[in-house]
Amino acid sequence: MVSSLILSALMLGASASVLLTPVSKRAETTVIPTTVFNDYSAFQQYFNYLYPWGSDHNGAARMVGNSSDHDYITIKTPGTLTLTAQPVSGQPATSSGVAIHYLSGTVYAKNSLTVEKGGGYDISGSFQATTTKGTWPAFWLTATKGWPPEIDIAEWKGNGDISFNTFNTSSQVAAKNVNYPNPSAFHDVKAELRDENGSDVSITFYLDGTKVVTQVGKGYVGAGFWLIMDLQMDGSSGSPGPTTNTTYSLKNLQVTSLNP
Ligand SMILES: *[C@@H]1O[C@H](CO)[C@@H](O)[C@H](O)[C@H]1NC(C)=O
Ligand SMILES: *[C@@H]1O[C@H](CO)[C@@H](O)[C@H](O)[C@H]1NC(C)=O
Ligand SMILES: *[C@@H]1O[C@H](CO)[C@@H](O)[C@H](O)[C@H]1NC(C)=O
Ligand SMILES: *[C@@H]1O[C@H](CO)[C@@H](O)[C@H](O)[C@H]1NC(C)=O
Repeated sequence: MVSSLILSALMLGASASVLLTPVSKRAETTVIPTTVFNDYSAFQQYFNYLYPWGSDHNGAARMVGNSSDHDYITIKTPGTLTLTAQPVSGQPATSSGVAIHYLSGTVYAKNSLTVEKGGGYDISGSFQATTTKGTWPAFWLTATKGWPPEIDIAEWKGNGDISFNTFNTSSQVAAKNVNYPNPSAFHDVKAELRDENGSDVSITFYLDGTKVVTQVGKGYVGAGFWLIMDLQMDGSSGSPGPTTNTTYSLKNLQVTSLNP
């Protein structure tokens, strides 16, 4: 609402050349700005610590972190968020019986994302992620109610690849795996989510500026998503994982809404 008022005001005050731009262009609203990891207070404005449901999920890492504990969720260099997984022993298993071998970090965006009719999102960032066996970093969207929907904007399953995935059901899954070069360098990832027909959402994935694949999520329009960055361990990435610390970093994160 506020942004369309500002846009209207800008249009009214604009020169004739600006008035020539197509009126049908979708409005763009910044949901998460690239300054989000400049310091902890900017981070805390847009992100919560842990998973939306707590500290544990489906791997061997238990997540730790809050506003006074940044051992595993760290801004060392302004602009870059780093998650660290540390091998530990003596932790109890998760409530579903998964053994815990690491303490690690996870964060999720405070505001859930919903593709509205005629709308969408652009989600982009630059990642430094490992492909070592037993390390399972990911950047993904999962349903706020039930499951699926799930969109894996980037997932590294310890095998040298990056994976881009969309789930219609637990068995109807589009999964695209491509070779992930030079994991010690940062790589750009982008996902464009668009309402296709008032019901389905297309997701176009890019790696380092090159389009990789477009997938379609059935009935994703109107569904709420959590945006999660986590450094899980073992699980889908195999085991045993590393016996030393693993890090996973993100910079230049930007989330833009194209919802009407
Ligand atoms: C933050 O987490 C630490 C454990 O890592 C815990 O001891 C402390 O009580 C927590 N603080 C808050 C404010 O939740
Ligand atoms: C591993 O990470 C933990 C948490 O950040 C840290 O306390 C510890 O010093 C790290 N260990 C090494 C060897 O860097
Ligand atoms: C999901 O279903 C839609 C049909 O509504 C289909 O176009 C799409 O390919 C399916 N996607 C996956 C991930 O299987
Ligand atoms: C949208 O397209 C899917 C096929 O991708 C189809 O199953 C669905 O009925 C369509 N929905 C609408 C509202 O047209």
